[in-house]
Amino acid sequence: MKNVVIVGAQWGDEGKGKVVDLYSAKAEYIVRYQGGNNAGHTLVVNGKKTVLHLIPSGILHADKVCLIANGVVFDPEVFFKEIDSLLASGAISDRPYDRVRVSDRAHVILPYHRLLDSVREAKAAGGKIGTTVRGIGPAYEDKVSRRGIRVADLLDAKTLRAKIEHAIEEKNVLLKNLYGADPIALDAVYDTCVGLGEKLRPYVADVKSLLMTALEQKRPMLFEGAQGTLLDIDHGTYPFVTSSNTIAGGALTGSGVGEGAIGSVIGIMKAYVTRVGSGPFPTEIEETEPALAEKIRAVGQEFGATTGRKRRIGWLDLVALKYAVQVNGITGLALMKADVLNGLDCLKLCTSYSIGGNTVYDLPSRAEDLARIEPNYDVYPCWPNYDAKEVKGFDDLPEELREYIRKIEAFTGVPVVLLSVGPGREETLELGNPFE
Ligand code: GDP
Ligand code: IMO
Ligand code: MG
Repeated sequence: MKNVVIVGAQWGDEGKGKVVDLYSAKAEYIVRYQGGNNAGHTLVVNGKKTVLHLIPSGILHADKVCLIANGVVFDPEVFFKEIDSLLASGAISDRPYDRVRVSDRAHVILPYHRLLDSVREAKAAGGKIGTTVRGIGPAYEDKVSRRGIRVADLLDAKTLRAKIEHAIEEKNVLLKNLYGADPIALDAVYDTCVGLGEKLRPYVADVKSLLMTALEQKRPMLFEGAQGTLLDIDHGTYPFVTSSNTIAGGALTGSGVGEGAIGSVIGIMKAYVTRVGSGPFPTEIEETEPALAEKIRAVGQEFGATTGRKRRIGWLDLVALKYAVQVNGITGLALMKADVLNGLDCLKLCTSYSIGGNTVYDLPSRAEDLARIEPNYDVYPCWPNYDAKEVKGFDDLPEELREYIRKIEAFTGVPVVLLSVGPGREETLELGNPFE
């Protein structure tokens, strides 16, 4: 059995949660390795919807172990809320720490990270990133600048106070003088942290070691990415990105397993593209085809699972998709939300861009250039409405949909291994098994 990494191949919200839930049946360990509760992963099982922000999307399978690894920025308050709601719904039983473990090396999101995220966005005027305001960027900044508080630090009340003092020193200067906000009170933060640490103690583990043992025992693992390739801090549409490596490489640094541990990388993509927050989006149709954008948003329920914001809509961008295949080493694609396009008049596929009179086949690096490129489209007939319940295999799909899949495969050079035609776990046609 191979270990599988799930990554978003677009700007997030591709349907990673649904695929992780589905594939969890074949895995024993499900590992979140980057991002934090900026993520919103939706699972629909037997008609019941669950949205997860921090806990891995394998949690609805009673016998699986869910790990939050070192690369995640971890908000303990959000974590406990999520645990409580899973306990209330009966998804987990009275010993949740038997099922969910958190890395002692993960960095903690504290109230001052959320505060900084929000005052910065408020002051940014025209240059807003449109963050989720969950404190993600400020927490990763503290990690890189070596003044972060880690999960293990919360468990040692004796040394914690000095660490928090060091962490807030510069922030208080910024908050007071640049943002006109109240300074952070050391005592209050310290007391909160000590309380959270005590509550967290049974969940804390050396996740890397757990994974090493699991690797030795050849237990199949599923690594759950958050956000998407084009939001990657290095390879995304910088600066309109998140603050972590969302690509498959993030699964290695974010969990501590070596490259040899990874067997397949599955890129999750929608049959169209969405983006939430600011930043360039070459195939966006909000201005060019507003009625169609509204229709797709309504049918696809394209509203953020974390912030409720409207997701911007666009045609499938094969140039950006191929880029995602390359930077992740994607070995198979999961094509999601094909049902949302059922019965449209036509479909457009972006196969190159024009910029300054030239045709280009790769993503420019600068946001300014990304904002002025024009997509070049191939136009195809869309597939009609059809009864997906009658579909048992690829050959039963409408010819136009089969052609769409073939075009994606030919352009990117990788197979479509899963087709999703509804939010439910069962509304899925598996065309391959990435664990084999
Ligand atoms: P994630 O962040 O990548 O896990 O994706 P989100 O959960 O934020 O957004 C995907 C949305 O699409 C969720 O509401 C899912 O329930 C829904 N969804 C997933 N797959 C399909 C599908 O094939 N068809 C439809 N109509 N909805 C889907
Ligand atoms: P999932 O895992 C879509 C976007 C935000 C903003 C940018 C930076 O559900 O696919 P941040 O709060 O991370 O500093 O915001 O990234 N963003 C997402 N967009 N899906 C997500 O996660 C996202 N997480 C962050 O909207 O543009
Ligand atoms: Mg989401």
